[in-house]
Amino acid sequence: MSRRKIICALDTGDRKEAIEWVKKLSPYAGAFKVGHGLTLPHGLDIIDELKAAGAERIFLDLKFHDIPNSVALAVREAAQRGVWMMTLHLSGGPAMISAAVVEARMIPEPSRPYLVGVSVLTSIDQHVLTDHLGVERKLDDHMMILSKLGVDLGLDGVVCSPEEVTKIRPVIGNGIIVTPGIRAVNADSHDQRRFGDGGTTLALGADYLVIGRALTGKIPPEEALKSLGLDFASA
Ligand code: C5P
Repeated sequence: MSRRKIICALDTGDRKEAIEWVKKLSPYAGAFKVGHGLTLPHGLDIIDELKAAGAERIFLDLKFHDIPNSVALAVREAAQRGVWMMTLHLSGGPAMISAAVVEARMIPEPSRPYLVGVSVLTSIDQHVLTDHLGVERKLDDHMMILSKLGVDLGLDGVVCSPEEVTKIRPVIGNGIIVTPGIRAVNADSHDQRRFGDGGTTLALGADYLVIGRALTGKIPPEEALKSLGLDFASA
């Protein structure tokens, strides 16, 4: 198992803690995921600080969702910061997705950031989707329809839970599949509602695993990865 498959989620607002995690976990993770928790207090300058601490690639997970003009502005700013990958919500619709793609493509290869779309968060289940959000479709079907829309419009890939990898793969062809919701068998699922272990998820065809609390907790990284079904020693 290659470390390049692992994206470590830096879910903290504490710059010092994030830098410590990068230093400790760089041998085990090919990329680090930065969200609102770090960018709201520290701005996008945190990206350069994390890179200086050893982060090879940055996954900017701000899940853009707004009118096309606003999302285009956000993608433009983020793309100029040298991020490797970033996210947007597919439910923003075709015009918003296309506006984001146009902006990302302004950055010449090979520096162009990957854009991946989120369809249904891994914290949402069928009950919430239907009874609270009013989506009558089966969760899997809803995800597949949104994912296809995104990739057809030029996105590089999608985010999905371990439970949907097999169904989404044929729908998006060679597109990138990023999977959060990684948990050891029988471990605390926290706020995640759709999850699976890392080894199985990669075997099903995911390209990258996003791992947060399981990796940034107190358990030593190799042990934590092993409990997720990831044999780091054989990398
Ligand atoms: O701690 P845990 O491994 O559950 O963290 C998962 C990470 O993946 C979080 O940073 C969360 O924001 C992110 N994520 C997710 N579900 C999505 C998209 C991103 O859990 N659909």
